[in-house]
Amino acid sequence: DALSPADYIRSHIRTVPHWPAPGVMFRDITPLLANPRVFRVLIDQFVHRYFDVKPAAIAGLDARGFIIGSVVAYELNVGFVPIRKKGKLPFTTVEETYELEYGSATVEMHTDAVKPGDRVVLIDDLIATGGTMMAGKKLLERLGAEVIEGAAIVDLPELGGSNKLRDAGLPLFTLVNFA
Ligand code: PRP
Ligand code: ADE
Repeated sequence: DALSPADYIRSHIRTVPHWPAPGVMFRDITPLLANPRVFRVLIDQFVHRYFDVKPAAIAGLDARGFIIGSVVAYELNVGFVPIRKKGKLPFTTVEETYELEYGSATVEMHTDAVKPGDRVVLIDDLIATGGTMMAGKKLLERLGAEVIEGAAIVDLPELGGSNKLRDAGLPLFTLVNFA
């Protein structure tokens, strides 16, 4: 294989122009998930990154962060915390509202999902404006957890989200950039 892991992963992300709104270049990870070899290479990047870190839990962002985050949590033998779109979680929750590249959203997390002092890795598929990951960071910190890193497959650096998150003190680990 001549490709680096990052280029191999990149080559399995499909770009759909003008979806879900005019001007948006949608970076679709479903071809990557459908291919078991590249899916394994992808998951292994995150597992190797966090194997020795031994986080208390992996938190994943609804919905594509669940696909990646739960597999990474399983491989690390740590728990998985879902941060969900509003209205889906049955127990007591904390919530955050934020702006997206296309629209706005509110996310929630159960108040017993993490304990004060827990060191947590926050995972999503993609960072655009950074609003989703920032909301997740705030929820985890409100419950006293420490978010040791934000991880994603894709960064869209021109949208400024990754810079904003780093400026807010969140270290990031991303595999692929699209301008
Ligand atoms: C997408 C993506 C990230 C978020 C990134 O999710 O999966 O969660 O947007 O954008 P941001 O950095 O500007 O916040 P989306 O809200 O489309 O929901 P989905 O995962 O349910 O498809
Ligand atoms: N979420 C926000 N912006 C996105 C994009 N351009 N592609 C895929 N998911 C996204």
